[in-house]
Amino acid sequence: MLLLTIETSCDETAAAVVRDGQQILSSVVSSQIAIHAEYGGVVPEIASRKHLELISPVIKQALDDAGVTCADIEGLGVTRGPGLLGALLVGVSAAKAIALARSLPFVGVHHIEGHLLAPALEQQLEFPFLGLVVSGGHTHLYLVEGVRRYTTLGRTIDDAVGEAYDKTANLLGLGYPGGALIDKLAKTGNPLAIKFPRPLLHDGSLNFSFSGLKTAVLTHLKKQQEIPQGAALNDLCASFQAAVCEVLCKKTAAALQKTDVKSLVVAGGVACNSGLRTAMQQLADRSNLKLYFPSPSLCGDNAAMLAVAADACLTAGYFDGFDLDAVATWNMDQVVKPELLP
Ligand code: KG4
Ligand code: ZN
Repeated sequence: MLLLTIETSCDETAAAVVRDGQQILSSVVSSQIAIHAEYGGVVPEIASRKHLELISPVIKQALDDAGVTCADIEGLGVTRGPGLLGALLVGVSAAKAIALARSLPFVGVHHIEGHLLAPALEQQLEFPFLGLVVSGGHTHLYLVEGVRRYTTLGRTIDDAVGEAYDKTANLLGLGYPGGALIDKLAKTGNPLAIKFPRPLLHDGSLNFSFSGLKTAVLTHLKKQQEIPQGAALNDLCASFQAAVCEVLCKKTAAALQKTDVKSLVVAGGVACNSGLRTAMQQLADRSNLKLYFPSPSLCGDNAAMLAVAADACLTAGYFDGFDLDAVATWNMDQVVKPELLP
């Protein structure tokens, strides 16, 4: 099917045109980061207003880039949640309006299922797989047995890993969002320079906790009585990144042992991280795993990633009604499992 997909869950207004849940004809992502950076984080009300301004031009751009019109579109997929309610409403309302005007089927997609299934846009993705989602709002491990067959195995009990990166970047005066910058500085630093804690590493669960790591950075800065510069800053970033990567890799290895699956997907904005990519590749090589990392453009928020689940649902004859609501919180284990899906 030729689908138009729409994503507005946070601070990116995005639309894409994708054929058969595989071939991306266009993917437009308009980021509001520069607007929110001034406030050190996303301001929900500003995000909603910006989505309202941008949604029509972004959809038009996606159709133009794909060389199609609304008349060619056969269905729609839209992020229903989780995310900022006011922001989600803009995308869900736009999808409903087009569906109503054009008599098209549409389906609400879970933002995280979008991230998890994104690798299917670039290569054959085989089920079952273990999914690690690392983003600004999520650090979750899932067993994925098929489209709409998700079981949560572990999750962060406080800050998400992207949040920990952003808060640490803020402490270091690196601006918002600082994950990519810490990653860049870490490349030339010594990861053994500072021994930061590895939270929950030996608690036997598959859960994560990152707020203590950020506090450890704060304590270190207070002891030093200044924000390090140059090589010392690079060492701090490398040491922070080493702690994050070790926890993520060891918990992922434990989940692989528990589930006995042989494929691993690492997705979400933090999946761009160079240290994490290297560490996960080493884990995959050691354990003889098939490892899927989306390309960087498909790691961060985008609309194309929604097309995999949306296409599977719509092709199987499963679609939502106009009473579909946007939801700020939505557990992946509760995503509807249409009987029709393979
Ligand atoms: O998936 P995403 O675009 O949005 C959410 O759904 O949250 O993830 C954004 C997060 C931010 O916290 C950002 O700092 C982080 O991903 N991020 C990185 C890197 N690139 C983006 N964190 C660490 N290293 C990176 N290279
Ligand atoms: Zn995301």
